[in-house]
Amino acid sequence: MKKILVIGATGQIGSELTMELRGIYGNENVVAGYIVGAEPKGELLESGPAEICDVTDAGAIAEVVRKHNTDTIYNLAALLSVVAESKPRLAWKIGVDGLWNVLEVARENGCAVFTPSSIGSFGPETPRDATPQDTVQRPRTIYGVSKVTTELLSDYYYNKFGVDTRSVRFPGLISNVTPPGGGTTDYAVDIYYAAVKGEKFVCPIAEGTYMDMMYMPDALDACVRLMEADPTRLVHRNGFNIASMSFEPGQICEAIRHHRPDFEITYQVDALKQSIASSWPNSLDDSCARAEWDWNPRFDLESMTADMLEKLSERLR
Ligand code: SER
Repeated sequence: MKKILVIGATGQIGSELTMELRGIYGNENVVAGYIVGAEPKGELLESGPAEICDVTDAGAIAEVVRKHNTDTIYNLAALLSVVAESKPRLAWKIGVDGLWNVLEVARENGCAVFTPSSIGSFGPETPRDATPQDTVQRPRTIYGVSKVTTELLSDYYYNKFGVDTRSVRFPGLISNVTPPGGGTTDYAVDIYYAAVKGEKFVCPIAEGTYMDMMYMPDALDACVRLMEADPTRLVHRNGFNIASMSFEPGQICEAIRHHRPDFEITYQVDALKQSIASSWPNSLDDSCARAEWDWNPRFDLESMTADMLEKLSERLR
């Protein structure tokens, strides 16, 4: 049975991934690592162990890993793309210096490490459609620069020290549980909240701007499946393209109108978000993930929309 530490367990991915991992590996085997000010609550707090574990504090990570005999670290601490542009030094400190801390602890204690990369690791020179697994990246945001660095640093620790590092490039993640904060793709979550509240949605991203997106259950499945994958099948290690749907704002609006015909959208484009979105691919080619570890998403735009509207309506009632 794995002994897992989730760093960033109260964040957008961590709050759901921690519960998913507890369901698979046993509550007591999954430690929720959090920072002061973002304490776990409710089921997350009550169902299993929790420890303060700031990714910028190498000593604290080592202490938690030794105390709990951790063999696998999910390192989810990061700032999203828009907020990182206003705090570039902090984004680097958390994303890159933080990963360095995690990798050193992993090297010393024999842990496997999962770290999310992103569609943000690509840039304007990247082929936009069916973006290949191995291609030019050269992002223009500090978020993307730090994500490319995490892919390379993780590969380095694998090649040099044999640390079992693995990662995926997540698209925009859509969930009805913990909202994202400060990302370019956040509109695709906010739009469902507006629809359920009966409000008109003011979209910060221009019509016609395509980005890859994914429903959280598929994202969680990717985290588990990749870390369970037979290492002898892995040609790649860090930065697997994964994809399940690509759409522009008008299409998500249409999908919502199938359930809420009166739903309305207007556009008030945010210059920073739009410049970031325009520098990212339209859709990724995820054939390497499918071939090397059987990546196979379940949700498309229609099935995600039906589920989001149903779950959010219950939650907001
Ligand atoms: N959701 C992220 C963002 O928008 C991209 O990976 O910043």
